[in-house]
Amino acid sequence: MDNKNRNIPVHVSIIMDGNGRWAKARGQQRVYGHAAGIESVRAVTEAAVEEGVEYLSLYAFSEENWNRPESEVSTLMDLMMDAMKKELPTLMDNGVRFVVLGNRKRLSDRLNEGIDFLMEKTSGCERMTMIVFLSYSGKWDICQAASRAAAQLGPEGMANLTQEQFGQYLVTAGIPDPDLLIRTSGEERISNYLLWQCAYTEFYFSPVLWPDFRKEEFREALRAYSERDRRYGKVK
Ligand code: FPP
Repeated sequence: MDNKNRNIPVHVSIIMDGNGRWAKARGQQRVYGHAAGIESVRAVTEAAVEEGVEYLSLYAFSEENWNRPESEVSTLMDLMMDAMKKELPTLMDNGVRFVVLGNRKRLSDRLNEGIDFLMEKTSGCERMTMIVFLSYSGKWDICQAASRAAAQLGPEGMANLTQEQFGQYLVTAGIPDPDLLIRTSGEERISNYLLWQCAYTEFYFSPVLWPDFRKEEFREALRAYSERDRRYGKVK
């Protein structure tokens, strides 16, 4: 059966939540949970490729996360840097294009260089696109899009701005809006994530903490999605 008949979402996005609580429940530091969370990233990426998902996006670090203790922020950045270095061959073998979106001006030069290297190396991969949202927030995205649109289009262009045009200034330009947004750990909110892009996204909330969210849990979310009836505000 092709993906359309199986009702597989084209774009699945995930708010990976619960690493800290997972670590705390084991009497460990929060960063222990983030390290375990990387294993879930690997498992879910594999499952997404296997299921024929075209875009998998992950909310790895929000603009607000910069307010966490310095030591947690720097360990998270180091973990991501290590994961990127280690996973390059696997990404390439599986045809995964790697993209980072967010306010990259706030990232270190070293991390930005690592990201550029990975994005360049995987730019020709066509099986799936993996998007990591880093130093991202929905309100930041809308603001930067508005500034760039105003600078380019001028007052008259802005007065006649269409939704399609505006979408071209968001960092997600060219990427289809998420069909399914998963949030783990029992929290049920959007937390300044893809505010514009989730206008008609289906939400799936799982009680499972992110380090325990693996292939089986991901497949269960896809199964739940396949039973949703999407009407986009219309009557069927
Ligand atoms: C939320 O748990 C998790 C994060 C803020 C970080 C998630 C990032 C990763 C797992 C690394 C991703 C790496 C790549 C390469 C994509 P929390 O700390 O908010 O948990 P809590 O709510 O239990 O405190």
